[in-house]
Amino acid sequence: MSDPGQLGNPHTLTTFSRIKREGGKFACLTAYDYCSALAASTSGISLILVGDSLGMVMQGHDSSLPVTIDDIAYHMRCVKRGNQGALLVADLPFMSYYSETESLRNAAILMREGAQMVKLEGGAWLAETTRLLTERGIPVCAHMGLTPQAVNHLGGYRVQGRDPAQGEAIIAEARVLEEAGARMILVECVPASLGVQLTQALDVPVIGIGAGPGTDGQILVWHDLLGLYPGKQAKFVKNFLSGNPEGIQGAIREYVRQIRTGEFPDAEHSYS
Ligand code: KIV
Repeated sequence: MSDPGQLGNPHTLTTFSRIKREGGKFACLTAYDYCSALAASTSGISLILVGDSLGMVMQGHDSSLPVTIDDIAYHMRCVKRGNQGALLVADLPFMSYYSETESLRNAAILMREGAQMVKLEGGAWLAETTRLLTERGIPVCAHMGLTPQAVNHLGGYRVQGRDPAQGEAIIAEARVLEEAGARMILVECVPASLGVQLTQALDVPVIGIGAGPGTDGQILVWHDLLGLYPGKQAKFVKNFLSGNPEGIQGAIREYVRQIRTGEFPDAEHSYS
C-alpha cells in the first residue's frame, strides 16, 4: 500500500480512514522539537503527537500534570516547522478542558499553532466537549484506557480493562465518543484482546500504545523508541536504536516497518 506522506502529500483524516478501510497499519510517534519532527515525518511516521508526556521526558517531572497549554503551544510551534506532511496532533493538558469554554479557548490556541487535531483523555463524560469542538471544526482524538492525567485517581500507571466488565465499558464509552464526533481513539495499556475488539467495534481509526498488535495504528514516545528515558520501562516500550547501524532515522524506519508488517508489538511487548 502506498503512503501518501512519503509521496509528498500531507496526511489528513481521510488518509487514516482509508488505511483502516483497506486493513493497513500506520505508525505514529511523539515529537517535541524541530529536528525530531523532521526526522519522524521523513522516516515514514504518519502522525506526530505533541504529547503532554513532555512533562516527563523534556521537563523531568514525574507525571504530565504540571504541563500547561503554553508548554504544548511552544512545542507545537517547534514541531510544525520541522514537520513534512505528518498529521499534527496536540494534547490538551491536565485541567485545560474542565469546562466547555476552556476547552474551546485552549483547543483554538493549539490549532492556531499548527495542530490539526486535539487529544483529550477520558470516556463518555467527554461527549459534550467532543461534540462542541467537532461542530466548530476542531477534530478530536479521545485517549482511553490508561489515562495518565488521572494517575492519582487510578492509583498508578496500571493496565486497564482486564476485567471483562471494564473492557466492555471502554468499548461502550468509545462508541459514545465516536457518535459525538471523535475522529480517532487512542487506547493505552489494555490487553491485546481488548485492542482488537475496540478496533473492530469502531469505524474511526484506533491507535494503540500497549494495546497489542490489533489496532489500526501504533504510537510510542520519542525517548522510548530511542532508549533515552532512564528508569523502569513499561512492557510495551521497545528500543529501536540499540544495535541499529543507521542511527536515529534508521531506528524510526525500523519501527515503521515492524508496525506495517505486524512484527511490533509482539507478545513480549503486549498485555495478555
Ligand atoms: O502524552 C503522550 O505522549 C501520549 C502518548 C503516551 C500516547 O499521550
